[in-house]
Amino acid sequence: MGQSYDYSIQSVRLRVLGDLFRGCVIPAGVIFLALRLAGIRLGFISGALVFPVAALTGSYLLSVYRDHVDAREANKLGAITVPRVKGNLPGNLDVLFRLLRNQERGYMMDAFSELYKECNSTTVNLRILWTDKYITMDSEHIKYIYNAGFSKFWRGHTQKEIVECFLGTGILNRDDDEWKTHRMIARPFFASDRVSHLDLFERHAQKAMSVMLNTDPGDSLDFEDLVARFTVDAASEFLFGENLNTLSYGKDGFNSFTNAFMAIQALIRKRSTVGDWWPLLELFKDKSEGHKRTIRSWVDPLVVRAVRIQKEMKEKGQSVNPDDCTFLEYLATTTQDVEVIRDQLLNILLAARDTTTALVSHVVYFFAEHPDVLKKAREEILEALGPEGTPTVENMRGLKYLRAVLNETLRLFSPLPGSLRGTRDQGVAFPRSDATHNSPPMYVPPRTPIATMPYLMQRNKALWGPDAEEFKPDRWFDPEVLKTVAANSSVFVPFASGPRSCIGQNYALNEATLFLVRLLQRFEEFTIDERKQLSPPWTKDPTIDMGLKHSRGGTSRKGIERIWPGFTIVIHIRGGLWMRFKKASE
Ligand code: HEM
Repeated sequence: MGQSYDYSIQSVRLRVLGDLFRGCVIPAGVIFLALRLAGIRLGFISGALVFPVAALTGSYLLSVYRDHVDAREANKLGAITVPRVKGNLPGNLDVLFRLLRNQERGYMMDAFSELYKECNSTTVNLRILWTDKYITMDSEHIKYIYNAGFSKFWRGHTQKEIVECFLGTGILNRDDDEWKTHRMIARPFFASDRVSHLDLFERHAQKAMSVMLNTDPGDSLDFEDLVARFTVDAASEFLFGENLNTLSYGKDGFNSFTNAFMAIQALIRKRSTVGDWWPLLELFKDKSEGHKRTIRSWVDPLVVRAVRIQKEMKEKGQSVNPDDCTFLEYLATTTQDVEVIRDQLLNILLAARDTTTALVSHVVYFFAEHPDVLKKAREEILEALGPEGTPTVENMRGLKYLRAVLNETLRLFSPLPGSLRGTRDQGVAFPRSDATHNSPPMYVPPRTPIATMPYLMQRNKALWGPDAEEFKPDRWFDPEVLKTVAANSSVFVPFASGPRSCIGQNYALNEATLFLVRLLQRFEEFTIDERKQLSPPWTKDPTIDMGLKHSRGGTSRKGIERIWPGFTIVIHIRGGLWMRFKKASE
């Protein structure tokens, strides 16, 4: 279906120019013709004005027509249409600016949160620049997209156009047979026996600990950066068989890769906020080009070498043992296409690096904020393993309190806060919405992008109770909470659910747990370095609105957050997490 579609920047630019022609030139032509038939001739200036007037009128009429068709189709399926955000400017331009402003200066996703509230619905249609874009924080709708309705949704053209420059033909960016093949190839590499060889994580964790132990007492370090280096060194060894060794801080050439990796994600975030019209901002310059080149200059030599070695092995009649090779070596047995292998590696690197980094960094942020939680987690670890004992999968499984801390962090700071899907050529009726509004089934038209927002859903007070935004690991021992989570697999979905759920969940949890065990064995007190920590603008200037309205109740995290959370595709802490660590007493 989508595979014959060309997602290159050239063809995306042609697509947007075609849209512009249809939306602007054709309606203007109709008006010119009508006026001419009525015997009215326009001068140069009034003639030029016809274009914006025609575009606005045409778009408005199209919107009205679309609403009419949607209502009719919804009715046929016994559903209602999704409430639409009503901004004050044509094309909901003010809504677009509000979202961009929130992205630049606000608290994570506050603007979306307000839009849901204004529309009194947990699923809404943003319709920005006359293009429908649905967003949902509804647990029933998200569950339907991930599970029962899985085949009715796909990544869709919108996402592929936006991220093709980065994720290309990889697993995160493909559907149907292509996606199935990727998943089939990748799955054995993430089987639990394979990701239970903890020595890989152990080696890199030990190195990270020695960086921390060698930091002068009283000095702080950017812990998020340290964990990112840990996860990338572990992932590069797991995937490429090559330790990029970024924890040896001397090798800072790698910064160019990291910066490009982050910058391209920020670009993607901007493109998705603007929606289908983003190519107009890149008509003459593909803004991903430089970053793409830098990323490729790191990855391609590794891929080319693997392909060459594989070819030589084949010529000698040798073959690799899939149980004992890296992911890259295995990929090279399935194709010689450097681009395909590179895309797949980058997809998994993206999935592996920033997500686990976000999890571990936010856990440590919470430890700094909640010394009682840190104390309890340390006691559990020291009781099970002592100050030096080496963690195994079995004894890590027994660390129930640490697991509760991980769950609570994943709930509040879901590393992937949102995910983009879209309907195919058929409209879809969702089941009834969740307990927040308990609305009747809603209709999503064909070929419409829809973003799921587990981040907001997992903070929803209607589902999690009035203390939903508070960090309380003990809730994970509450039978009521456990019952709700078990009964509704979609109120807690940091790893998604259904056929497209995270393939690296066990890898990530083993990696994060091992790292935290080693950290808590070595250190007993964590404090944020206020001098270096980038604090959110509203803490300095309480007059900044940006959603403060709905957080003034005192239970919203916004009022108490001492870090400034942000996100591109994955969440991160703006400016890093500057921490001091006190070594454990002997
Ligand atoms: C705390 C860490 C992690 C979290 C919270 C997380 C979360 C997720 C989520 C929510 C998805 C679904 C995305 C979507 O449908 O749009 C996903 C997909 C995926 N994740 Fe993870 N992930 C984590 C770590 C990892 C790691 C360490 C790896 C690999 C080493 C990995 C590999 C993947 C892959 C390959 C997919 C795509 C699956 C598919 O499309 O079939 N993830 N992850």
